[in-house]
Amino acid sequence: MEAMADFPIEAVRGKFPALALTDDGRRRIYLDNPAGTQVPQAVADAVSRCLLNTNANLGGFFETTVAAQQAVDDAHAAMADFLNAPSVEEIVIGANMTTLTYHMSRTLGRTMKAGDEIIVTRMDHEGNVSPWLQLAEDLGLVVRFLPFDERSWQVEEGALKALLSQKTRLVALNYASNLTGSINRMQTLTAIARQAGALVYVDAVQFAPHGLIDVQSLGCDFLVCSAYKFFGPHMGILWGRRDVIDGLKPYKCRCSSNALPERFELGTPQIELMAGLTAAIDYFADLGAAAGEGTSRRKRIAKAFEVSIAYENALAWQLIEGLSDIEGLTIRGITDPERLAERVPTVSFTVDGIAPETIVRQMNSENIFLWSGHNYAWEIVHQLGIPAEQGVVRIGIAHYNTAAEIEETLESAHRVIAMLRQPRA
Ligand SMILES: Cc1ncc(COP(=O)(O)O)c(C=O)c1O
Repeated sequence: MEAMADFPIEAVRGKFPALALTDDGRRRIYLDNPAGTQVPQAVADAVSRCLLNTNANLGGFFETTVAAQQAVDDAHAAMADFLNAPSVEEIVIGANMTTLTYHMSRTLGRTMKAGDEIIVTRMDHEGNVSPWLQLAEDLGLVVRFLPFDERSWQVEEGALKALLSQKTRLVALNYASNLTGSINRMQTLTAIARQAGALVYVDAVQFAPHGLIDVQSLGCDFLVCSAYKFFGPHMGILWGRRDVIDGLKPYKCRCSSNALPERFELGTPQIELMAGLTAAIDYFADLGAAAGEGTSRRKRIAKAFEVSIAYENALAWQLIEGLSDIEGLTIRGITDPERLAERVPTVSFTVDGIAPETIVRQMNSENIFLWSGHNYAWEIVHQLGIPAEQGVVRIGIAHYNTAAEIEETLESAHRVIAMLRQPRA
């Protein structure tokens, strides 16, 4: 509980106006975070300021167009710091992770031919599976499915090695699962895949709110994430290794720029959301500064994660321990307190004989916000033999949640599940 005392939770919560909202006097508990987080006031202010004061298209010489270009440049610089990208030219900003991945898969498809092999996992969100499957269908690629280990809840190196061949062109992997919460050993997996000559495409959407990403030390070729999962606006970001993306020819308008990253950013960008994205990254940096780090933005971001990870892990353990008391409840993910560093604080479970949606609807009626279903972790539910139309109950913590909220959620889960167990009269 030391970690909890160190984290400035009241100051953090004070930055998020949505956390103070009530509905007919009832408080809200936001545990729907893996589907999208709330935003600090500063993010909403930046979006609004951009729309109200400097709304213009790019490329001109007058005041507002120059300011709009600055907002675009600032967002790329902020994301380069967030991901430790060597250059802003490697940062591509777009609608969301799924759109960016479809775009990049189609682009990479121009370098592939029938008979080439690609590897997708049974652990990934569909956003990092479907684009590759459809590319394979179009081009006659061979698809290999990489399962996760049901004891470790991770993709194991041996399983990856068994699928790689000289023909493997790409491995699509997730950093952390949006259902089980487990984190893959990305550096090792990436090194194995790249040694075999494959490109590595990493989905970091669920990892990004919970851990420091360093694309240079990961050694992957592409990494994607979504700002709305880490306190920013609804948009996605792709990092691509310069020596890889420089040689790619995306589908684009003939007259649009061939420079990086504009070559991959189609049409007019979401300029106001980019202003919000910079504010979201600065929110992390401010958190790091409050924790005593006064140097570069990258270092302040790193410090923010250092303090928030410890805090989140304490909440995750509180949740896992409390759920484990419920008879017939199975957590679908890592439950060992020694292995909290190998998971993000997203906890999914099923309960014998009770549909997840029934539990969730009841808890939602107590103004506890959480999700049921497969949540697009379509391959995971199939590998685990969970009916896809039912899925799981998913509780996803963000660093603005509190121990008191987790306690209330646990009390609600106990009460609701006991009530649903009662035989109907
Ligand atoms: C792990 C993971 N990958 C990809 C996505 C898709 O992200 P987007 O909504 O930005 O397309 C999600 C969304 O929940 C996700 O959790």
